[in-house]
Amino acid sequence: MARAGLVAGNWKMHGNLEQNEALLAKVVAGTRALQNAGCAVCVPFPYLAQAGALLSATNVAWGAQNVSQHEQGAYTGEVSASMLTDLGCRYVIVGHSERRAYYDETSELVADKFRIAQSHGLTPILCVGETLAQREASETERVVAEQLDAVINTAGIEAIARSVIAYEPVWAIGTGKTATPEQAQEVHAFIRNRLASNNEAVAAKVQILYGGSVKANNANELFAMSDIDGGLIGGASLIAEDFISICLAAQ
Ligand code: G3H
Repeated sequence: MARAGLVAGNWKMHGNLEQNEALLAKVVAGTRALQNAGCAVCVPFPYLAQAGALLSATNVAWGAQNVSQHEQGAYTGEVSASMLTDLGCRYVIVGHSERRAYYDETSELVADKFRIAQSHGLTPILCVGETLAQREASETERVVAEQLDAVINTAGIEAIARSVIAYEPVWAIGTGKTATPEQAQEVHAFIRNRLASNNEAVAAKVQILYGGSVKANNANELFAMSDIDGGLIGGASLIAEDFISICLAAQ
């Protein structure tokens, strides 16, 4: 890989205090010797303080799975970017397909979340990706470009260098249907080329992760592709041994 690798776990709405403690202890021990790659976990909001307490003196970073587009105010149930930095978060996922699909998050809203996260020193992990119907209609590039351009238009191309992009084909998420390394590489190259047409240095620098049924037994071949810099891991991030193997594959 031309860039340092990164593997981020997205726990989604899973976990409890006892399970988290055991999982994180194993992940810390298993990734201690990681070289030229980073490891992070994006945990549910209520467990951010626990993650901070258990991870602060380790190589494992932590982050959230969502953030409000507002600075503060009467937004019941929302969590602001400054609250995440208070809790020591380094990363925050924005634009995950589950939020786009189930909570009607538009690309413009995602761009606002991206911008406010960065303004508080957080590194957004911007998720983009097409549905199966869109892929079958040959709309993958159009969809990914629209999701990417919304952020570039709002935050500027230079801001992309201070973010992480995750290509997550919706049809591969939680389905066991991983994109082939070639399918993933094709879209990663498209993303990098589109960024390069705006700013070559940004395109060369930004880490682009693949997400969608990454497992211990397919991470190596995915991460071997030239534009795949690591993974955003859902289900397998809840199994310590699998997550550690995937992290080690990103070295
Ligand atoms: O954010 C992670 C992705 O949704 C991938 O989830 O590894 O369970 O397919 P998955």
